[in-house]
Amino acid sequence: MTPEINLTRDPAHLRHGSNIGQPLTRRDGVLKVKGEARYAADNHPPGMLYAVIATASIARGRVTSLDVAAARRHPGVVDVMTPSHKPQLAEDPDAKTNPFAFRMEVLQSDEVRYANQAIAVVIAETLEAATEGAALLSPRYDVAPARVGLDADESYTPPVVGLGNPAEVHHGDADAGLAAASQRIEAIYETPAQYHNAIEPHAIVAAWNGDRLSIDTPSQGMVLAQMRIGGLFGIPPGNIHIRSPFLGGGFGSKGLVAGPQILGIMAAKLVGRPVKLVLRREQMYGPVGHRPPTRQRLRIGVGSDGALTAIEHHAKVTTSSFDDFYEPAADVSHALYATPAIKTSHEALRVDSGTPLFMRAPGEATGSVALESAIDEAAFACGIDPLAFRLKNYAEVEPATGRPFSSKALRECYAKAAERFGWSRRPLAPRQMRDDAGFLVGWGMGTAIFPALMFQGNARAVIRADGTGAMETGAHDMGQGAWTALAQISADALGLDLEQVAFKSGTSDLPDAGIAGGSAHTATVGNAIHNAGAAVIAKLAGLATSDDRSPLFGAGNAGVIARQGRLHRRDDDVRSESYADILARAGLAEIDASGSGAADPAAQSQYAMHAHGAVFAEVKVDPNLGQVRVTRMVGAFAAGRIINPRLVQSQLYGGMIWGMSFALHEEAVTDRRSGRILNANLAEYHVPVNADVPPMDVITVDEHDPHVNALGIKGVGEIGITGSAGAVANAVWHATGIRVRRFPIRIEELVTGLSD
Ligand code: MOS
Repeated sequence: MTPEINLTRDPAHLRHGSNIGQPLTRRDGVLKVKGEARYAADNHPPGMLYAVIATASIARGRVTSLDVAAARRHPGVVDVMTPSHKPQLAEDPDAKTNPFAFRMEVLQSDEVRYANQAIAVVIAETLEAATEGAALLSPRYDVAPARVGLDADESYTPPVVGLGNPAEVHHGDADAGLAAASQRIEAIYETPAQYHNAIEPHAIVAAWNGDRLSIDTPSQGMVLAQMRIGGLFGIPPGNIHIRSPFLGGGFGSKGLVAGPQILGIMAAKLVGRPVKLVLRREQMYGPVGHRPPTRQRLRIGVGSDGALTAIEHHAKVTTSSFDDFYEPAADVSHALYATPAIKTSHEALRVDSGTPLFMRAPGEATGSVALESAIDEAAFACGIDPLAFRLKNYAEVEPATGRPFSSKALRECYAKAAERFGWSRRPLAPRQMRDDAGFLVGWGMGTAIFPALMFQGNARAVIRADGTGAMETGAHDMGQGAWTALAQISADALGLDLEQVAFKSGTSDLPDAGIAGGSAHTATVGNAIHNAGAAVIAKLAGLATSDDRSPLFGAGNAGVIARQGRLHRRDDDVRSESYADILARAGLAEIDASGSGAADPAAQSQYAMHAHGAVFAEVKVDPNLGQVRVTRMVGAFAAGRIINPRLVQSQLYGGMIWGMSFALHEEAVTDRRSGRILNANLAEYHVPVNADVPPMDVITVDEHDPHVNALGIKGVGEIGITGSAGAVANAVWHATGIRVRRFPIRIEELVTGLSD
C-alpha cells in the first residue's frame, strides 16, 4: 500500500553513516516469528510454583467465607494466600505515595471493590492444580449494590485530569462566542469502557534470594516498577532486578505495577520458592486499567463567515470508588481549531470498577472522536465541506495559549491525504453515493493530534578497543520497535554501522530510560543516546587531538566528526584516525560516557508542540441490514523526524485500526445488576480481525522541527487513533444521513434509521 517506502537499506545513506531514516525490519522479528523471543511467562526457574488468582464475582461488598481447606486438600496445592494468611507489606497499598502509585488490591482486606478483583491466590506445583484449587474456594459474599454507568447523580469536579492537567480551562468568553454565533451545534457523544487487551497477558515470574528480588514481567517503566515494589516490600529498589525484553503489547496497561504482579511477589515470599502468576484473559478486565466510559457535550458556535466563535467541551468520566484517574477527554479541544473562545471542563463519577488508566491516546482518543464528530456536524450545518471547514479554522497558533507551534505541517497532511483519497469528488450531502451492489457509500474525515512529549531517560555509550561500540539503556520495546529504532540512533550517535554496535535494553540494571508511554520513548531515549554518543565521541576526540602522535592533533573537539569508526578533521577530511588506534595508543580497553534526554523547559514554554495528521475513511453500509464495512482509509501524519519509516508505518496502521475499532467494534459491557463485565473475553469484546481491516494508506509528511529536541522527534505511538475514529463515524453519517453519537456505532441504530 505504500510504494514510497524503500524496503532495502539505501547504500547512499549508509555511505554517509546514517542509519536514522532507514526502513529496517525489526531486529526482534525473526526471534518472534520463530518463537524464540522469551516473554515473561516463558521463564521457568528451578523449583518454580504456579499461582492462580481467585477473583470476586461481585462488584461491591465483602467476602464472608472461603473454603481454604478444600483448596488445600487438592493434590499439588502448596499454599493458599488470603487476607489472613499472607506476607506483610512494608507500605499500605492504598497509600498514594506519588501520582504514579495507583492503589491496588493485594488481599489487604475482605472488601471487594470491583468484579474480577483478587480475593485469594492458590499456589501449586502445576498450573492445573492451582486453577482447580482456586475453583474450590467457593467464596460467599455480603453483596452491596454495584454503582455502574454514567447516570448516578453524585458527580464532582475532579481535582486534576490526566497526570495533573486542570479540570477546567477557559480561554476567551465561550458564552459570548456562542451567543454571537450564527450557527450553533450542541450534541452529546458517548464512548464506552474499553480494555487494553494486549495479546500477552500480564504476567510475572518472581524469585526471592534473601532481600533481593529477581522478576520477569512485561513493563513499560522498569524504574517506576522498582520503586513501587521496593516501597511495598521494604527493600532498596536496587535490590530488584527486572527483565522485560519483550512485551506483547502494553498500550498503557503495563505502565504501572498492578496488584497481580505484587501478588505474585507475595506468593513467592510466602512459599519461599519462585512463583509464576499469569492473568487469564478475563482477569485483565479489572486490576490492570481500562479506558473509562465518557459522556461528552460539545457546543460549537460558527459565525456567518464559517469561522468558529467558540468551542465548549464538557466531559463526564468515571473513575473507581477508591482511586483517582480522570480521563482528560476534553483537553483535545485546546489545541486543534482556531477560535476566540474555548471552554473545557470535566466531571467525574465513582463507580464499582477497577481504576481506569492511560490507554493509547488517553484523553485524545475519547475526546477527538467527539470533537471531530461535532466539527463535522458544524461544517454540514454551515453547508461547508468538512475539509474546507477545517482549513477555514486552521490554527496558526495554539488556540488556548497563543503560543506558536514548534512546527505544524497539518496543511500538507490534509492536502496529501485528501488527494490520495480523492476527497474533492465528495458530495456535500449525505446518502448520495452507492456502489454497484447497492451499498451506501460514505466518505468522512478527521484531524489527528497528539502532544509531542518527552520524559526523562538516560543512556551509556561505550567505544571499545576493537573499534566497535555499545549503547546501554533500560528502554522498553512494547512491540513498537524501540529495540530497532533506538539501535539505529545508537549507530549514528557512535559513528558506526548498526552491526558494530551492541545495543542493550530491556533490563533494569541498565541506565534508567524512564517510561515507554506518551508516544515519548523514542524522543526521550533517542536524545539520551544521541547525547551519550556525542559525549563519548568528545572524550575520544579529546584523547586524539591532545596527542601529538595523532593526525588529529590540535584539531580541537569542535573540529572533529565521527564517521564509520573514525574521527575526521572537519576542515581536512583526509586526516583521520580510527577509534581503535586512538584507544590503543592511549592504552585503554574502552571509553564510556553517559547522556540524558529530557524536554527543554525553555523551548516548551515558548512553543506548542504537537504531532498532527489527517485521516480519511470510506465506509459501505448495507441499506437493509445496517452492516458497516470500512473499505479504505488514508492517513497522512507529520510527526517530526522519522527514525524508521517501516516501524512508523506499522505504528500508524495500528493506530488507524484502533480508530476504526473505536468507531465500530470495541465496548466492554457491564451488567447493571451485578456490576460484572459481560464480555471479558476476546470472543465477545470485539476488536477488528484482518478481515475487518481495509486497505490502508499511510503517508508521512516531512517535518523538520528544531525546537522539540535535538533529533527533531515528535513520536507516533498514539496519534494514529486520534483522527481515525471520527473519520469512520463521519463516513457512516455521510453514507446514511444518520448521526450516531453513541460509540461504538451499532447496526441496530442504523437499521432503524435506514428503514425510516
Ligand atoms: Mo501509552 S497510553 O502512554 O502506553
